Amino acid sequence: MSKHDQPFDYRHQFKAGNLGDVFKHVALGAVLRELTADPRPLTVVDTHAGAGRYVLGPTGEWTAGVGRFDAGLPADAPAAVRAWHAAAARRTPNRGGTYPGSPRFALGALRPQDRLVLVELIDEVRAELAAHLDDPRVEVRGGDGLAALAALHATPGRLLAFVDPPFTRKAEWDEVADALVALHAARPDAHALLWYPIKSLTRPNALHRRLQDAGVPALALDLVTASLERRKKALNGSGLVVVGAGAALAAELLGVAPTLGPALTTDGGWELRARRWGLPIPT
Ligand SMILES: C[S@@+](CC[C@H](N)C(=O)[O-])C[C@H]1O[C@@H](n2cnc3c(N)ncnc32)[C@H](O)[C@@H]1O
Repeated sequence: MSKHDQPFDYRHQFKAGNLGDVFKHVALGAVLRELTADPRPLTVVDTHAGAGRYVLGPTGEWTAGVGRFDAGLPADAPAAVRAWHAAAARRTPNRGGTYPGSPRFALGALRPQDRLVLVELIDEVRAELAAHLDDPRVEVRGGDGLAALAALHATPGRLLAFVDPPFTRKAEWDEVADALVALHAARPDAHALLWYPIKSLTRPNALHRRLQDAGVPALALDLVTASLERRKKALNGSGLVVVGAGAALAAELLGVAPTLGPALTTDGGWELRARRWGLPIPT
């Protein structure tokens, strides 16, 4: 059985709307708003698309994620958080409701000239995805998302890869690094947004080193929302690697942490680790 064969024991259903989803979807919205400010067509490849929409139970990881915003946003919440909240939280009443997945956030931001390629490995999840998203700009594909991305390197025009694997296998950390290195080599103009979970900083640090050594210029943001010493195997936050972020987008992404950190913390503390390499120093 190859690493990508089904069955597969991950279901995003149980994690939908959690603290990682909040950070990734706020960032995805911000990246898409910047890219769609340019009138040229954009192709977005969501390599691990999921079901596109999740029915939340009365309890679940969402209560420590999107549920933290049910009472509203702080008055000083930045525009990127407000836009996410408007798209997500209006569908999330205090007890469950539904939460949109990345395909819906992406589609909500795209224009008529854009295209969205959604890749989902699991047949039943893909069927659910296809049933919800009937739009001529959308193409739903099966198979491995990173292989699909490689096949789309030559796609004409502007390209954004949104890479959000389940990270159920240790090898996925190397596979996503390989995919970003290959993308940058083939398409130095391409944009990418990668999300990863943070249990400890060992794997994120190795990922950053690998990208830096391979000459992929990027911004990395680790939003740590629990003490890494206290709960070594738990989801203590999540991180993003952004390839192709200009200074304005970088500033916008940095600016969401003072709203998300205090809301998503599990022990009262939070920290944003920001690292950048290979990018010009902002003036
Ligand atoms: C973290 S979830 C995606 C969540 C989604 N991007 C969102 O933000 O709403 C990861 C998804 O990838 C799917 N998956 C797992 N391995 C895959 C692979 N090799 N290629 C494509 N999809 C895969 C899983 O079935 C799961 O639905």
